Amino acid sequence: MSATSLTLPPLPVDPSIDHEIQAIVSGASTAETCNTDLAAGPWNFDDRPGYGPGSSMGDVIPVGSPRQGELPVEYREASPDELDARVRAAKEKLGGRVMILGHFYQREEVVRHADYVGDSFQLANAAKAHPEAEAIVFCGVHFMAETADLLSTPEQAVILPNLAAGCSMADMADIDQVEECWEQLAEIYGDMDAPDADGLVPVIPVTYMNSSAAIKGFVGRHGGIVCTSSNAQTVLEWAFERGRRVLFFPDQHLGRNTAKAMGVTLEQMPMWNPRKPLGGASAGELENARVILWHGFCSVHRRFTVDQIEKARAEHPGVRVIVHPECPMAVVDAADESGSTDYIRRAIEGAAEPTTFAIGTEVNLVQRLAADNPQHTIFCLDPVVCPCSTMYRIHPGYLAWVLEGLVNGEVLNRITVPQDVADPARLALERMLAAKPPAAPASAWENAS
Ligand code: 13P
Ligand code: SF4
Repeated sequence: MSATSLTLPPLPVDPSIDHEIQAIVSGASTAETCNTDLAAGPWNFDDRPGYGPGSSMGDVIPVGSPRQGELPVEYREASPDELDARVRAAKEKLGGRVMILGHFYQREEVVRHADYVGDSFQLANAAKAHPEAEAIVFCGVHFMAETADLLSTPEQAVILPNLAAGCSMADMADIDQVEECWEQLAEIYGDMDAPDADGLVPVIPVTYMNSSAAIKGFVGRHGGIVCTSSNAQTVLEWAFERGRRVLFFPDQHLGRNTAKAMGVTLEQMPMWNPRKPLGGASAGELENARVILWHGFCSVHRRFTVDQIEKARAEHPGVRVIVHPECPMAVVDAADESGSTDYIRRAIEGAAEPTTFAIGTEVNLVQRLAADNPQHTIFCLDPVVCPCSTMYRIHPGYLAWVLEGLVNGEVLNRITVPQDVADPARLALERMLAAKPPAAPASAWENAS
């Protein structure tokens, strides 16, 4: 066959997300999402209206919701020192009226202003635990702000400083695809609500926190539950007490790594690719499945490899390798430990002797841990320093803008989950919060800086 005779049909294009991400999701591109443009101000590449690339593509932007307009020039052109001073001044004026939450992956210039810093489970708890704050400014990504809106009171405004701060993994499962998957599974398993002789329904849907509110709502309506990387095993145990199988989305790696550690074999974990009939699995594979894994992944954690671990061990004998469970299975298997962002923080801070750590997670966190723990040698396994491009969109300029807006009585970039989605989504979250808590302390780390 000549090279020119192969013509691939054009990919269906969803206008709500970046074409590159769609190409990566569909397998048409093996490109990385790491991009040197990230060193620039996000306004240099967030030039389109709407939620922007990397946001939760499964969400149809609700009518009347705010769109990310161009950041006013006074913020774009302000020096880092000026922005820092303006954030501090606005925060001081607002006092207890505002609470700033910062995910561990946020850049240092943002984290220093956060009242609480934590992983996604801890920040969800922090949002729930502070009904006194009129506004919660969430320095993280879209699904985290949605979760804060679900868990906070209706009077509280949850603000995402840059609406284009999404999560490309959350984009990989949209509600239409999940509904379609559920219908196809019902053709194989029959009535999805009917318990068998052991009292187990055919499938319990489990969604990773990194998913849109619409997906959490789906899970809530179908007897399912949310998990985070800090409680995935607890949640799977909860699900197996109620269902014969689990449909786990969107992160195949967290699902596979967690279920494998619980003794589920790889043969019992077929993959569901939403672009293929029956997800690309056979009816027999689905019949024997214990965990059906959605074909999603994190572009940041996918970068880590076994070769990097071997190199770290060769260059640093005795190195302790800890990776996030969003890394591929071979990487988690080759590491010494795996755990959530807070697990990684506690492991480092709890090491009594000076230790060399090689870490497989987002680089902003690794660099901060290295700076905060000079008694240890800490480096990122990935030699290409690449932050999560969507977390990185929370530039201090956006933070200053929304805080000064609050000072002036204006609520900018409010994230509101529509009521019909919010009720079942909250149910799925509450099931998670009521499940046995993770072994680690569940509270976010109160920022002393
Ligand atoms: P944590 O739940 O560990 O904070 O992880 C969130 C995340 O997005 C990791 O990529
Ligand atoms: Fe999403 Fe990955 Fe970024 Fe986490 S690191 S927010 S999973 S894209």
